Amino acid sequence: MRPTSLHPLLQERFSTRSYQDKAVEPALLKTMFEAAQWAPSCFNEQPWRFAVAAKHVDPEAFARIAATLVSGNAWALEAPVLGIAFANPRFSRNAKPNRWGAYDTGQAMAQLTVQAQSLGLNVHQMGGFDETKALALPGVPEGHEALAAFAIGYAMEAALPENGSPRREFGSLFFGEVPWRQS
Ligand SMILES: Cc1cc2nc3c(=O)[nH]c(=O)nc-3n(C[C@H](O)[C@H](O)[C@H](O)COP(=O)(O)O)c2cc1C
Repeated sequence: MRPTSLHPLLQERFSTRSYQDKAVEPALLKTMFEAAQWAPSCFNEQPWRFAVAAKHVDPEAFARIAATLVSGNAWALEAPVLGIAFANPRFSRNAKPNRWGAYDTGQAMAQLTVQAQSLGLNVHQMGGFDETKALALPGVPEGHEALAAFAIGYAMEAALPENGSPRREFGSLFFGEVPWRQS
């Protein structure tokens, strides 16, 4: 059970595998990526970059991203929108390695996901994709890392499934003492 003390957007978020056959308004999609844009990042580098395609807007671009997915993620082909999150692993200021690039890109995806939730949309991220194919997508410059694919759309389920993904025991997340009373 998720703690009821969570914000409703976090309380209700889950990664669906079944999407309604309903296009996502381009303006809503744009808002989601603006949420990603305003994530914090080390030295304000903003290392995240995205490839994104909506099936009803550009079916060929959608098919190119779909072709990067492993067969186990075939459920994502039902989603109206697919994308890939990339990161620049070097700082643009001095070309030195940015070891927070992936961390920051994950934060941008988290913001995108919560913004999506606020718009009634569902984001499902996927590690199951071919990085070489993702890096060969049109417009992707040299030197980037392809970190995660994602599907976006309206979930078929009206609410969080009863038997959603469980979590590790809360107490096991911490090393050492914690500043609250353990129950
Ligand atoms: C980086 C990352 C990679 C993931 N890869 C896959 C994947 O390839 N296929 C899949 O079905 N789900 C994938 N997931 C979804 C997770 O399985 C899911 O987030 C986790 O079970 C927790 O469930 P919840 O998001 O519904 O809370 C991935 C999630 C993340 C963040």
